[in-house]
Amino acid sequence: MSDVKDLKLASSGKLKIEWAGSQMKVLEKIKLRFKKEKPLKNITLAACLHVTAETANLVITLKIGGAKVALCASNPLSTQDEVAASLVKDFDIPTFAIKGEDTKTYYNHLNKVLDFNPQITMDDGADLVSLLHSERKNQLKYVIGSSEETTTGVIRLKAMEKDGALNLPVIAVNDSLTKHMFDNRYGTGQSTIDGILRATNVLLAGKKFLICGYGWCGRGLAARAKGMGAQVIIAEVNPVRALEAAMDGFEVMRIADAIKLADIIVTATGNKHVISKNHFNSLKNGVILANAGHFNVEFDYNGLIKEAKTKRTLRNYLEEVTLSSGKKVFVLGEGRLINLISAEGHPPDVMDMSFANQALAAEYLAKNKQSFSASKQSFSASKQSFSASKQSFSASKLKPGVHQLPDEFDKEIALIKLNTLGIEIDKLTKEQQKYLNSWQEGT
Ligand code: ADE
Repeated sequence: MSDVKDLKLASSGKLKIEWAGSQMKVLEKIKLRFKKEKPLKNITLAACLHVTAETANLVITLKIGGAKVALCASNPLSTQDEVAASLVKDFDIPTFAIKGEDTKTYYNHLNKVLDFNPQITMDDGADLVSLLHSERKNQLKYVIGSSEETTTGVIRLKAMEKDGALNLPVIAVNDSLTKHMFDNRYGTGQSTIDGILRATNVLLAGKKFLICGYGWCGRGLAARAKGMGAQVIIAEVNPVRALEAAMDGFEVMRIADAIKLADIIVTATGNKHVISKNHFNSLKNGVILANAGHFNVEFDYNGLIKEAKTKRTLRNYLEEVTLSSGKKVFVLGEGRLINLISAEGHPPDVMDMSFANQALAAEYLAKNKQSFSASKQSFSASKQSFSASKQSFSASKLKPGVHQLPDEFDKEIALIKLNTLGIEIDKLTKEQQKYLNSWQEGT
């Protein structure tokens, strides 16, 4: 009941999972509590995430918490096949993911995990939620809620909510401070550079490095590229962020101007065709083009390939595209998120906090479940989702829409993380607390 590349890869996958787990101390603490309390007992959970050693530690934690878990990949190219094999063989977790799977297999795998009839789903990019609202609508009533890992997914869900099309409560894990301030910034910063270097082995020092987008991912990437000696240029449409980039010391330009200078271009926008057909002629000969965003539409990879006179693969995930003008463009990872394609995604120490949030989101959804023994008819007027066996139903106390985890979760996760780093911080005195809560004292 799984589909992975080769179960014989399991032994190396198991060691990789163990190493990653040793760097994920917050998740470890949650795992120990889950083992005792079993907060996910009787919950079936379908997860669509990048199948990495870090994700393995998350799904193992959910299983230890009592859930029946099934996992599929959230990108056709990001699966670590040895990890997928170990999840099946050593941890008995149904897994449907093969690195390089075609689009048909990718969607087949998504359907496989939904065949488990989950009460909770977990997404990185909103593909399961999207399927539940399109081809598998009949299953929606059994789902009490979902959680979403990434900025792009949250943007998609908020668009659904705005259209009145979202019929589930979804926890935007990405919106937790202990997720986006660290994963998006330091995780993407480091792992994108790692991906570019593994694919190309070029020197960054002295290169003109254009980053499209100055959100949390762009900021992290800019800081790391600068640290390695690159001359960083930022293109950003949001004036406040563009100003921030300028005051952070970066050159800020329009894309049309910046691409004439850039040796390396990375998109991190969450948007579409930021580098498009109109730009191809202005690109510098020999430019390296990579994407750090979730979907492979941030630069127009297909459009570029269409205009190619010739195309060769020089190294893994490094294609040389020669345009009719004779200009060469080097494209990484077919425009898919390079940190997970040619490297291993974010390091475990930072996924630790992201996945602590995911584990707590699953627990939060389970705790907000309410059960009914009412008849089906008496509950059918409600807009809330409910899961049903023959005569008992359960629904979430949370309304359909995009929700955030409570602030206390951030504080708890940050405190544990600080603790694992051996860092102690001060507490406010009673007098200071009183001062902050009063308005009478002035100059
Ligand atoms: N997203 C970015 N890095 C990741 C990782 N290492 N595992 C799962 N999802 C990720």
